[in-house]
Amino acid sequence: MKKFLVLAATLIATTFSAASYAQFAKPDDAAKYRQGALTVMARHFGAVGAMVQGKVPFDAKVAQENIDIAVFMSKLPWVGFGPSGEGASIKNTSKPEIWKEQAKFKEHSDKMQAELLKVQTAAKTGSLDAIKASFGGAGATCKACHDAFKS
Ligand code: HEC
Repeated sequence: MKKFLVLAATLIATTFSAASYAQFAKPDDAAKYRQGALTVMARHFGAVGAMVQGKVPFDAKVAQENIDIAVFMSKLPWVGFGPSGEGASIKNTSKPEIWKEQAKFKEHSDKMQAELLKVQTAAKTGSLDAIKASFGGAGATCKACHDAFKS
């Protein structure tokens, strides 16, 4: 059991350091990675959004679980927009400006992560009104970056 735990810990450490620091072998690998991470993040952010919009009944626990996943996932896509992610040939909607304006792009991603944390804090109160108050600001950071950097 102990051996298994050590192995599991090593695997997790390897996976996460790869996520944080990986240089991708091919730009297509980076593109697949960032698209996958964005898709998962958006799915869970959207689940909270559906409650905010009254499309599904509010459930504080479900909202909390979804925003927790979105916050975690929000750390991951950005490595896929690093230097090794430039020039992918698979279908993608990243504008070339991302690689000319990396500092500006990072400002957008930092802002989004900060806004998602606010939604997470709000979700901890269990109040739909608190979530509603923070949700729009987070959504606006998605749009701001997409307007600038996504075709
Ligand atoms: C810092 C910039 C930035 C922020 C912030 C951002 N996105 Fe994106 N997003 C992009 C870019 C660029 C792409 C295109 C990726 C590609 O195809 O290479 C993208 C793609 C996506 C995709 C499509 C993934 C696919 O498979 O093609 C979804 C869904 C998405 N974003 C959702 C969101 C949501 C939801 C938020 C806010 C919670 C968000 N994004 C915030 C830049 C951003």
